Amino acid sequence: MSNDIDLADAYALQTPDDNRDLYSRWANTYESGFITDNGYVYHLGVAQVFLGRSTYNDGPILDVGCGTGLVGEALRTDSSCPGPLDGLDISPEMLKKALEKRTVEGESVYSELHVGDLTAILELADEAYGGITSCGTFTHGHVGPGALDELYRIARPGALFAIGVNPDHYVTHGFADRFADDAVAGTITEPAVHLVPTYESGPNVGVLSPVIVFRRQ
Ligand SMILES: C[S@@+](CC[C@H](N)C(=O)[O-])C[C@H]1O[C@@H](n2cnc3c(N)ncnc32)[C@H](O)[C@@H]1O
Repeated sequence: MSNDIDLADAYALQTPDDNRDLYSRWANTYESGFITDNGYVYHLGVAQVFLGRSTYNDGPILDVGCGTGLVGEALRTDSSCPGPLDGLDISPEMLKKALEKRTVEGESVYSELHVGDLTAILELADEAYGGITSCGTFTHGHVGPGALDELYRIARPGALFAIGVNPDHYVTHGFADRFADDAVAGTITEPAVHLVPTYESGPNVGVLSPVIVFRRQ
């Protein structure tokens, strides 16, 4: 391994402060270490699912828990990606990496990057976004279904969501029930669950992770 932080450390996180601390130390080696060492490709599947359902007017998009910007990079490789694309993360150090991300044309991948905590109120306007996506953030630790309240608030009616949720937590941490309840309440359309590969190599190859797709009503 090319660094001493790995998935077990990320899965042990309990609080927003734990996250800020770990990701401030991980930002420089997250891609060269964890992503490369594990053949991690979940972000590619999340981006593909979003693009497969989106139309030209599903922007602006917010990449929630954007980290170093892998989802954004994958989205922006496709010229059909609606724009603009913003990112949000609790870790300024991860956002600093996302700020450096460029498209093949040399443009910044993200138009705006916001420091924000998904377990708190986000400093973003009501109905600001036409698309919301996320990968690797609704996982072990502290970001549960309660974070959806703020995401619904900042999504305009009709906004497209493609949200990756850890496969072990999708049912046990209440995400499946929450999406089902929200669909019954008319807050969102009936959610569709797409399963995409998480890793393309290594010991976890074959693991599939869900991407939940729906629209805000
Ligand atoms: C496993 S990384 C995934 C990053 C990126 N989406 C990817 O696919 O590579 C999880 C990200 O969620 C962010 N995060 C964790 N807790 C958060 C919170 N409460 N609010 C906002 N972002 C958070 C972390 O800082 C980290 O960048």
